[in-house]
Amino acid sequence: MQEVTLEIDGMKVTIEDGKTVLEAARKAGIPIPTLCYHEELEPFGACRFCMVEITKGKRKRLVASCVYPAEDGLIVKTNTERVREIRRMILELLLPIAPAGPLRELAKRYGVEKSRFQSDEIRPTHCTLCGMCVRYCNEVMKYDAVSFVGRGVYKAVALTPEARDLCVFCRKCYTICEAGRFPMLAEEYSI
Ligand code: FES
Repeated sequence: MQEVTLEIDGMKVTIEDGKTVLEAARKAGIPIPTLCYHEELEPFGACRFCMVEITKGKRKRLVASCVYPAEDGLIVKTNTERVREIRRMILELLLPIAPAGPLRELAKRYGVEKSRFQSDEIRPTHCTLCGMCVRYCNEVMKYDAVSFVGRGVYKAVALTPEARDLCVFCRKCYTICEAGRFPMLAEEYSI
């Protein structure tokens, strides 16, 4: 098995070729926060909360660590001011649509107490569209009971009414919803 060695926050990390920067960081015990990543699912790359700063040769740039491959000689910084600024901006965007719960706690940790954005102008669904419930239902449970509907600002997560019986017994998506929205949505459908 081929391996690659990269440097993350000053620490040399060796990992199997084909793994991502996020997986390498986790292997080394270096925390990178994520919102749309789940180890049982294919990476989605939607939230950008896992951004890190990389240096490759002379080039420095920001990448989403959950989809960026670990490479030999890569230098990764997970907690620079630029990285923290991006995370604060993402949290500020999410704050108006996030109910009290894990996201609000995370925002507090980054010193984001208020947002310049209004919830009704963005999306009044309280869903961050991380897609974890949709992907978990489809990729792992193979029920296809949860899906995206609509486009643009009208994009939302919906339950398939015909799958109601499966949902009553499963409810796996309740436990992985970062916004704490899923139980609210399920309530609307009485499942
Ligand atoms: S966790 Fe990497 S983009 Fe969402």
